[in-house]
Amino acid sequence: MWKLLVFIFLTFQTVSSQGPCEVVISPQQSVVKFGDPFTATCNASGSEIEGMGWESPHFGKSLTEGISSLPLQIDKVEVWKIDLMCYATPSDGDQCTTDLEVTVYKTPDSVSVSESLDEIGVMREGQPYEIESSILNVAPIRYLSVIWYIGSVFVYEEHFEGSDDGPINVLSVLKMTANGSHDGSEIWCTAKLNLRTEGGPPSRESVQHRLTVLYTPVCSEPANETLEIPASGNVTLNCSAKGNPKPSYSWHYPQNMPNTAINGNHSIQTLSSPPPGVYTCTASNSQGTTVKYFTLIEAERDQTTFGVLLGVFLTLIFILTVGGALFWRFRGGFSFKSCPPRRSSVI
Ligand SMILES: *[C@@H]1O[C@H](CO)[C@@H](O)[C@H](O)[C@H]1NC(C)=O
Ligand SMILES: *[C@@H]1O[C@H](CO)[C@@H](O)[C@H](O)[C@H]1NC(C)=O
Ligand SMILES: *[C@@H]1O[C@H](CO)[C@@H](O)[C@H](O)[C@H]1NC(C)=O
Ligand SMILES: *[C@@H]1O[C@H](CO)[C@@H](O)[C@H](O)[C@H]1NC(C)=O
Ligand SMILES: *[C@@H]1O[C@H](CO)[C@@H](O)[C@H](O)[C@H]1NC(C)=O
Ligand SMILES: *[C@@H]1O[C@H](CO)[C@@H](O)[C@H](O)[C@H]1NC(C)=O
Repeated sequence: MWKLLVFIFLTFQTVSSQGPCEVVISPQQSVVKFGDPFTATCNASGSEIEGMGWESPHFGKSLTEGISSLPLQIDKVEVWKIDLMCYATPSDGDQCTTDLEVTVYKTPDSVSVSESLDEIGVMREGQPYEIESSILNVAPIRYLSVIWYIGSVFVYEEHFEGSDDGPINVLSVLKMTANGSHDGSEIWCTAKLNLRTEGGPPSRESVQHRLTVLYTPVCSEPANETLEIPASGNVTLNCSAKGNPKPSYSWHYPQNMPNTAINGNHSIQTLSSPPPGVYTCTASNSQGTTVKYFTLIEAERDQTTFGVLLGVFLTLIFILTVGGALFWRFRGGFSFKSCPPRRSSVI
């Protein structure tokens, strides 16, 4: 009950104190770079103001009488937090006040990923890696975000917790699984203070580093190919594969293919009128092996011609068979009966 009464009393006090006077700080600037100047003005309005002042751990300005506007000027901000309070004292009633909290920031001295990448060296596909970026001397870290890129593609963003107002060093850690598609890509990160002000401080980028990833050969699409053999001419089998280290190639060919026709460490083979069948290319390197199958078939129009020929041939066979059968049936009565039965067995 006591507490409630006190609360009501205090609330009443606050409300009543807002009546006779009001103070406004302008501009409402809430961030400043460490080392930069800072200025603000506090204006008081309302019933007769006797005097006003600024209160702050470092930059106070004692009560000045007979004014309703009081500027505050800091030539060089060299603290990591500015808590300001402006107050005015009216002739009747209670003091009125307003607060302004100013964030002091500092962009990092350096952002670097080189150390951990030098340690990692060459990566292997499928292996996990942790890449560290060290960000030196940045404040305040609760506004810091570190954004990682691989080959211009955003991959990860890290935010930091901490109540420190002063500058500290932080580590951002990117956890990644190496992928062949990363080989030869640049990796870097950007440290940025998100101060919710227009423009804001510039972000700071690390140097770009080229990733080297060892990976199993990957054949260019399609994974398997079906090709028609042209009526006359050559067939090109393109087994070009990406891989690190560069793949070596070996070929296997259908049994009816002359042995000498296809061989050697080539990604592309050109064959002159090869027989249909399955041709196999193996691309391999120290990381693994990939097999690509080329199925060679007779060209469409050859099949059509062949089909027509076959049709004609079959029709002829049919006519001959039917005709023959009819003929034999017609003559059969004489011929079969005229055969002397089982003559040989008699002998
Ligand atoms: C504050 O007072 C000064 C001087 O009287 C005046 O120039 C300025 O415009 C005032 N600022 C605001 C925000 O009222
Ligand atoms: C590499 O990336 C590709 C596509 O981004 C994905 O399909 C593949 O599974 C990845 N390989 C490994 C080993 O993570
Ligand atoms: C390619 O063909 C082989 C043999 O027929 C098969 O095992 C493999 O799955 C095929 N690959 C693709 C990607 O279709
Ligand atoms: C087929 O290839 C051979 C040698 O590989 C070449 O001499 C010939 O001109 C090619 N024929 C056609 C039609 O491209
Ligand atoms: C073979 O395929 C690769 C990858 O698709 C392509 O870059 C290359 O030009 C092709 N070569 C030929 C001779 O078609
Ligand atoms: C095949 O050729 C590639 C590049 O042309 C080469 O790096 C590789 O060592 C060769 N492999 C073999 C087994 O000769």
